[in-house]
Amino acid sequence: MLGNFTYCNPTKLYFGQDALGGLNEELPKYGKNVLLVYGGGSIKKNGIYDKVVSVLKANGKEIFEDAGVMPNPTVEKLNDGIERAKAAKADLILAVGGGSVCDYAKAVSVSVHCNDDAWEKYFIRFDDVTCNIIPVGCVLTMVGTGSEMNGGSVITNHAQKLKIGHVFGENVFPKFSILNPEFTFTVPKYQMISGIYDIMSHILEQYFSGTDDNTSDYIMEGLLRSLIRSANTAVENPADYEARSNIMWTATWALNTLVAKGKTTDWMVHMLGQAVAAHTDATHGMTLAAVTMPYYKYILPYGTAKFARYAVNVWNVNPLGKTDTQIAYEGLSAMEEWMKNIGLAMSIAELGATKDMLDGMVKSTLVMDGGYKVMNEKDIRAVLNASF
Ligand code: NZQ
Ligand code: ZN
Repeated sequence: MLGNFTYCNPTKLYFGQDALGGLNEELPKYGKNVLLVYGGGSIKKNGIYDKVVSVLKANGKEIFEDAGVMPNPTVEKLNDGIERAKAAKADLILAVGGGSVCDYAKAVSVSVHCNDDAWEKYFIRFDDVTCNIIPVGCVLTMVGTGSEMNGGSVITNHAQKLKIGHVFGENVFPKFSILNPEFTFTVPKYQMISGIYDIMSHILEQYFSGTDDNTSDYIMEGLLRSLIRSANTAVENPADYEARSNIMWTATWALNTLVAKGKTTDWMVHMLGQAVAAHTDATHGMTLAAVTMPYYKYILPYGTAKFARYAVNVWNVNPLGKTDTQIAYEGLSAMEEWMKNIGLAMSIAELGATKDMLDGMVKSTLVMDGGYKVMNEKDIRAVLNASF
């Protein structure tokens, strides 16, 4: 049931081939010092760096660089970024990259003016932000996480074998995001399909909860249908602007808090995937793909009616003369076939997980409720074991 809620998403979006021009409207709102945050260098190869720097200079900004944000950003890099932002006296953090760069920028933004240890405060204790926040803007170059329009920030601690996300409030959402689908054309295919599956998983994590009649579920079915169609096109032709722009837009709506309204969510595919990543450092969307089928087959008996609805409304399964259970399994088979066809990882062994990591991965899996079954340690072990 939708119940009581407030809804506000403060991120301003500039979308399309001319989106970068939005920086000219946004930059004058902030002080002179800009911390330009980016990853391992893809933006230098594809020319996005030069384009961004030229707009920053035209707006009279002093640029301080913070490069080398890795996929699955680490706590060590976060601490380094906090020092860089302090030294730069940053008035704005401009993240140019994918979810890792945007997430990292947000984590830095809430930590610079805070004396506590950032990892302990936000990722272990899940404390609220109690200090000044440096505003963040985002130029998105890789699609999937939704980080461009949400408060999420995921940081990995390899020493503790933990990969944990903190969902910050509206005050930490990017103030603006630049979404030009053409900026994603150079993303390698492996990353592109991983991002596509991340989007699908975000939608499904929210969809598979509740038994009520909720507008959010209808919106999500539409998003899923659009995503599947555009993904098929983009896999064939990565430079198809229409497909890439639909995927970009779907990603944003999949995880910008809209479709979460009225839903209870346990995010268990993400909890399992993050545990796998904490031990393998594998690509986010692939870790989700690799645990999805074992997990959904495990929980299907607890939410059969919803899985049957999913099969019919998203995968066009013909329900005539079949039980809900039959329909539900047919839907999962159609999904599995599609996942294999687009090239997703279908086992955690493919991602470098080995059996001697099993105990550790079970320990690293956080459990939340809100889905169709609250998982216990035995359940998690069974799902991870089946994911090999
Ligand atoms: O580092 P560079 O050289 O830029 O290369 C990146 C990186 O290797 C490359 N790339 C990005 N844009 C490119 C490009 N290569 C060529 N051309 C371009 N235009 O792609 C690789 C992956 O980038 P990354 O940012 O790591 O990918 P993604 O956007 O999938 O982000 C993953 C991170 O986001 C977190 C994940 O856990 C993971 O740490 N998530 C954040 C969420 C949120 N904020 O709400 C939710 C998600 O569930 C997710 O957990
Ligand atoms: Zn995700």
